[in-house]
Amino acid sequence: MRSVLIQMCEKYRKLVNEVQYIHRLVAFDGHHGLDHDLMVAQYGYLIAGDARTSELAWVAGLMHSIDRLISLISKQDVQTFLDGFINCLPDSISSEEIELIVEALGEHSKLNDPDDNPVTVALKDADRLANLGFLNLIRGGQQRPNLHPLLWVFMTDCTQSQLLKILSHA
Ligand SMILES: [Fe+2]
Repeated sequence: MRSVLIQMCEKYRKLVNEVQYIHRLVAFDGHHGLDHDLMVAQYGYLIAGDARTSELAWVAGLMHSIDRLISLISKQDVQTFLDGFINCLPDSISSEEIELIVEALGEHSKLNDPDDNPVTVALKDADRLANLGFLNLIRGGQQRPNLHPLLWVFMTDCTQSQLLKILSHA
């Protein structure tokens, strides 16, 4: 998993930077912080049924908190921020694949639907798994939703310094 995290963060560096920028812009570092987005991306990568869907699910996972982030600013800005994220994607992602990702972003908080596209399926389950993680229990128990979850390194087998290095380059 460490190699996936590093490889994908490098491949999608522009998007990682943009997502982190938006998180910092809204000063939102709680249950839906960048760490959560990366965790969902990692789970999505594992869950998806084939290599291409894994990559798209990773991208969707990284972007998936956009609804929470935008709710702190203005719902009217959703499309602007979404366009900003999409503009960070490399040309190797086709317009049809972008549509799958955008659909997954819009559907991920809903109940399962037999018509869900494969990226949506992976994203829904990835988000649920991430929200079942022990960090949420710690945060809840401490009444500190903004606790920075560096313990997340256990989920990726990254060392703390590697994780900090990844995030500091974002
Ligand atoms: Fe989430």
